[in-house]
Amino acid sequence: MPETRFWHPFANMAEVRNSSLTIARAEGCYVWDTDGNRYLDGTASLWYVNAGHGRTEIIEAIHRQAAMLDAYSTFGDYTNEPAEQLAARLAAVAPVKEAKVFFGSGGGDAIETAVKLARRHFIVEGAPDRVHIVTRVGGYHGTHGFGTSMAGIEPNHSGFGPLVPGHSTVPWDSVEALAAEFDRVGAERVAAFFCEPVVGAGGVYPPPPGYLESAAALCKEAGVLFVADSVICGFGRIGGWYGVERFGVEPDLITFAKGVTSGYQPLGGVIVSGDVSRHFWEGDGEVFRHGATYAGHPVCCAAGLANMDLLEREGLVGRGQEMEQVLLDALLPLADHHFVKEVRGGVGLLAAVELSPALMSERPSAVRDLQLAVRELGVLVRPLASAVAVSPPLVVGQEEIEAISLAISKGLASLG
Ligand SMILES: Cc1ncc(COP(=O)(O)O)c(C=O)c1O
Repeated sequence: MPETRFWHPFANMAEVRNSSLTIARAEGCYVWDTDGNRYLDGTASLWYVNAGHGRTEIIEAIHRQAAMLDAYSTFGDYTNEPAEQLAARLAAVAPVKEAKVFFGSGGGDAIETAVKLARRHFIVEGAPDRVHIVTRVGGYHGTHGFGTSMAGIEPNHSGFGPLVPGHSTVPWDSVEALAAEFDRVGAERVAAFFCEPVVGAGGVYPPPPGYLESAAALCKEAGVLFVADSVICGFGRIGGWYGVERFGVEPDLITFAKGVTSGYQPLGGVIVSGDVSRHFWEGDGEVFRHGATYAGHPVCCAAGLANMDLLEREGLVGRGQEMEQVLLDALLPLADHHFVKEVRGGVGLLAAVELSPALMSERPSAVRDLQLAVRELGVLVRPLASAVAVSPPLVVGQEEIEAISLAISKGLASLG
């Protein structure tokens, strides 16, 4: 193979330039490399192939739409039918009053949109001091400008010089700490609290019972916008379209991406409540001077519509919640292994096996070594800072979940 010119995201290219894994095809919960080796996709790619691979309904919808209208801008007064239909459909199922939908190309886009919208909203409302953003430790909100500044995963945040000011992080599990932070900053200076229903890339931390409900209530009381970052948790991953339904909370904004198309096309966006959209949609209007070239891309939206049809028809919207205990039960025995600190999960079809601090300090490459050992056994898991994560497609069965657990168990044994 000629030397690669492809600079991979989040990769040490000095290593990856000499050893990469070329995925060639995919079907259901499995992918194959160019040598024909089969792998169980224990991560649904990057937490997103919710409907499973190779779904002809989505593939054909993409083809049909591309043949009809390949691409056209939606800036200003341009629109297209798939964008209109998908916005209507996403709004109809959102636990948000008078929902409007602002589209972009992915999750990071959605975060930038949500921060700018939150700040602009307060400026238009006559509260220009409300600019501060609070996030949680472990929160991952993409890698764009605001998202990098707000990151709750320290290595994603540091090493870039000065970032956007006006944000702080609080412990992931304490409403008291959130309240104290509002007091410290002055609630009247806080625009929004961003929160993943289950912290994903930061290590898979399900919320303590009552946390989201109390955090949402606190935000309401303080006049702070409650923003659910449902980029991972939406579209069935933890149950419900946006993953917040099971907690009975009603966010002001919801960011979504990934599972909205099961990743078949790049798409993300923000669900916006009527209270926030009002100044922009009523009276003389107010132009939100923000937007991405591919916002409302007809082919991406067609994929979203076909994916929503499929998730609905096959009962996959509730599937993450139905399977959460199966996944946790399969992985929990791994907690007895001396290299494992703990197994986290139980809220949605995502979990993490956290390696012990002793192993991590003795063998800093342990996560990568485990990932590779498990891969040798034909299963893909996702490396996090000190854990491997599991988040298979929602169509996964119990047998496959047990195969994932067995491979991790054998992988741990191979570490020594
Ligand atoms: C919770 C959350 N928000 C935002 C993002 C950023 O999404 P994207 O990678 O599509 O920019 C991610 C990506 O994993 C995510 O997990």
